Amino acid sequence: MLDLIVRNARTPRDKQPTDIAVLDGKIVAVEQNMDGEAQTEIDAAGHLVTAPFVDSHFHMDSALTYGQPRVNDSGTLLEGIALWGELKPTLTVDEIKARALRMCRWSIARGTLAIRSHVDVSDERLLAVQALIDVREEMKPWLDLQLVAFPQDGFLRSPGARENLIHALDMGVDVVGGIPHFERTMADGAESVRQLCEIAAERGLMVDMHCDESDDPLSRHIETLTYETQRLKLNGRVTGSHLTSMHSMDNYYVSKLIPLMAEANIHAIANPFINITIQGRHDTYPKRRGMTRVKELMAAGINVAMGHDCVMDPWYSLGSHDMLDVAHMGLHVGQMTGVDEMHAVFDAVTNNAARAIGLDGYGLDLGCNADMVVLQCQDPIEALRLKPARLFVIRRGSVISTTPAAHPVVSLGSGDETVTFSL
Ligand code: FE2
Repeated sequence: MLDLIVRNARTPRDKQPTDIAVLDGKIVAVEQNMDGEAQTEIDAAGHLVTAPFVDSHFHMDSALTYGQPRVNDSGTLLEGIALWGELKPTLTVDEIKARALRMCRWSIARGTLAIRSHVDVSDERLLAVQALIDVREEMKPWLDLQLVAFPQDGFLRSPGARENLIHALDMGVDVVGGIPHFERTMADGAESVRQLCEIAAERGLMVDMHCDESDDPLSRHIETLTYETQRLKLNGRVTGSHLTSMHSMDNYYVSKLIPLMAEANIHAIANPFINITIQGRHDTYPKRRGMTRVKELMAAGINVAMGHDCVMDPWYSLGSHDMLDVAHMGLHVGQMTGVDEMHAVFDAVTNNAARAIGLDGYGLDLGCNADMVVLQCQDPIEALRLKPARLFVIRRGSVISTTPAAHPVVSLGSGDETVTFSL
């Protein structure tokens, strides 16, 4: 007896609906018109069934603090960092945990079952680290939470940052972060990249830096990150997050840079909501979009994911942690409207994101973890267009969230008519 069969599931790759069988938390069969019985059967009714959404770049410690102690009026990165600095002394472990646990429920309801969250390690008390390590353990049955030690106030610029970061890693934080564009000089930025990559190499950890989150075309820390990746043989374990300066870089320079990134197997993560709202703030018109060169990076074979980055915090006032919102914005900002391009954007919040954070057992193939989402739509492009209900969210073969299907009824005098948004 199987634990679960999801029948008539339309996977992102297959045109014809198929059945997916689950035993002991794993996918054990994917075939059409499958025989057999299960404890639970779900009829997906030809709807899209995908592996869960993955948010590869998030800040769980600041999420849901909107308005505390005030809002970010200028909308800039620097006012956001200053505002977070005002808020930090008032935080407690319990308060951070309560917000994070609430945030995880929002994520699960949207079908996001893996999150890489940066956690600020600038405060020597490391309250956010303790809180999010607790949340990581508590949520383990339902959601994979991976933590990045993020020296928000600068690794070389802020006194004690190195000790705090090392302490956070000793406590069990998974990944080494950085913020080279926030150091005092370009040289310090490069030096911070070198030192942080060495820490990761010594400990066998992955690296994910906020890198060149700026409109300055001369902010080239990604070049150093790529170089250090090769030097320390960290290939495939290093991510450049944001990379917004690449939007403004000289094309000739980028034509040299991107192949070097591909050679080093660097992962790139764009954060469309934050990039489009925070970058270009010093421009008059035309205003730059700020998002990195997603299309060109993908064309070079670089693994590109998209992250939500922020939900209702000092940097971003909106959001419900819906990765389809992220992909929708990314598609528009990156002008990725071709059919293959839209599929690539869907991958940026699913497969590519899972690859960037090194998630094991991800996907809908045999032997993968039985984690999946049934959406009220037919295929990935319709998912991007409609951002439809996540009818069932399944973790290790158990349904952990449901949302009723939307069936709007329009009454125009000639009777009620149920509207569907499919052609
Ligand atoms: Fe970030």
